Amino acid sequence: MGRLASGLAHDFNNLLTAILGQCDILLRRLPEAEPARKGIEEIRIAGERAAGLTRQLLAYSRRQVLKPQVIDLNSSVTSMVPMLRRLIGENIDLNPTLQTDLGHVEADPSQIEQIIMNLVVNARDSMPRGGRVVVETSNADLDETFAKRHVPTRPGSYVMLAVSDTGVGMNKATLARIFEPFFTTKQLGKGTGLGLATVYGIVKQSDGYIWVYSESGMGSTFKV
Ligand SMILES: Nc1ncnc2c1ncn2[C@@H]1O[C@H](COP(=O)(O)OP(=O)(O)OP(=O)(O)O)[C@@H](O)[C@H]1O
Ligand SMILES: [Mg+2]
Repeated sequence: MGRLASGLAHDFNNLLTAILGQCDILLRRLPEAEPARKGIEEIRIAGERAAGLTRQLLAYSRRQVLKPQVIDLNSSVTSMVPMLRRLIGENIDLNPTLQTDLGHVEADPSQIEQIIMNLVVNARDSMPRGGRVVVETSNADLDETFAKRHVPTRPGSYVMLAVSDTGVGMNKATLARIFEPFFTTKQLGKGTGLGLATVYGIVKQSDGYIWVYSESGMGSTFKV
């Protein structure tokens, strides 16, 4: 699946480069008053979106090179809050609950952003009539007992990032498949089913773990 995804993403990127390049050339040539510019600009926006999608595909297939740095997850979350609020709309509250003296983690900052984005967008989609999202950080010292109960965790000092919502939740059948690439319960054209597969890939590649707690009608919590 990973090889298929990265092969597709690669060929797709070549086509997009041609499409976006031609758009730029046309936009440069056409006078400002030309009505056709609007259509070309629309093509450009759709092309940029498609390019974003191929980046997700590449991240999923793990071909994207990680650039791990020592980072503070609280600053990652804080810097994203204004953008996330715009994304989720007015009838959903976003409350960050950030631990002070949070430990540092070694991870690729843009991949961490991708994780947060995907989890928050999923939370939004689960609350069509509004609700609450909590983005939480905390230090997590996982001991032997915890590690035994949560195979294949290794005991040690970790930092947890959790995203919870008050949305529709998931039943067991859905829960069993959420990390599968292309698994989606959203209507055609709404979801690719790559969000959580991407999240999972990044978490694994960063030596982390992810757990999900959810029940139908009871909201969901994703803990990284
Ligand atoms: N917070 C959540 N609440 C309820 N269901 C969820 C939540 N997060 C994920 N899911 C379920 O898991 C499925 C897979 O999620 P995933 O993010 O991988 O794909 P998607 O959101 O459907 O599409 P994409 O992320 O590519 O736009 C969703 O279609 C949904 O059924
Ligand atoms: Mg998603």
